[in-house]
Amino acid sequence: MRTVTTVGDLRLQVAAWRRDGLRIGFVPTMGNLHAGHFSLIHQAKESADRVIASIFVNPSQFGPNEDFDRYPRTPEADATALAGEGCDLLFLPSVAEMYPFGVAQRVRMDVPSLTGILCGASRPGHFDGVCTVVSRLFNQVQPDLAVFGQKDYQQLAILRHMARDLAFPVDIQGAPTRREDDGLAMSSRNQYLTPEQRERAPLIQQTLHWVATRVSEGDRIEETLMAARQRLADAGFEVDYVEVRRADLAPARDGVPEERVALAAVKLGSTRLIDNLVFAPRL
Ligand code: PAJ
Repeated sequence: MRTVTTVGDLRLQVAAWRRDGLRIGFVPTMGNLHAGHFSLIHQAKESADRVIASIFVNPSQFGPNEDFDRYPRTPEADATALAGEGCDLLFLPSVAEMYPFGVAQRVRMDVPSLTGILCGASRPGHFDGVCTVVSRLFNQVQPDLAVFGQKDYQQLAILRHMARDLAFPVDIQGAPTRREDDGLAMSSRNQYLTPEQRERAPLIQQTLHWVATRVSEGDRIEETLMAARQRLADAGFEVDYVEVRRADLAPARDGVPEERVALAAVKLGSTRLIDNLVFAPRL
């Protein structure tokens, strides 16, 4: 596997592959890779001839009081692991390569209908930063397909919206959430947890299952959510949100048979964790 750090070198390699008629898959990441990320590489390999991964801890998607500085950076270990997982090219740009006019002078992207709710409500500017960097990466890499995890459900919905609205010729694929044996969704942030917090963390997924079961059996959504929030708060979680939405993230209404998603964002100490569960309507 080759590693390139400039858009120029990236384009040369992509152009050579294109001349050979190869289909290019792309997996953008912020590094510190785990089995969840590798599952995206594997999925991309299924429908592409060459797979490119990027590692870029994107400053524009972190708020001023968030963990940009302490976000785990392990590029050497990531590169070794990516090569072992069958990735063909790693794009590892610097901040200056990604933002030639500087982060503050960047062109911004927004998806107003989806960026102000859920995680966007408590992380203002976060999805602006995600859309901004992913649109750049799409222009730089020019992939045929890109794979994103359903773990970041809102991010995936926003990026699908952006790609369609801006007519990016990129097939956006979602990949299932990879979990630890006890149900906790894999995340680079899990390593911030103390052993005691780590033991409690599976309650997020358990609570989402409970919500999905209750709501699909006909319980009222708002009452169920209040009980779920209380259950997490009683276990020492600081609840940002627990919500049930339609699968397209529009508000869900009681008694309407539609596909839904239960989503949660909580803090354990200073670590913010998110998870979600898609569930079918009651028949
Ligand atoms: P990052 O958090 O590194 O995640 C990179 C990709 O891996 C995302 O598509 C994310 O949804 C997926 N992922 C993370 N944990 C996963 C899990 N347990 N199972 C399956 N997929 C998982 O998301 C980002 O980076 C950034 O916002 C990015 C899109 C790269 C833009 O900067």
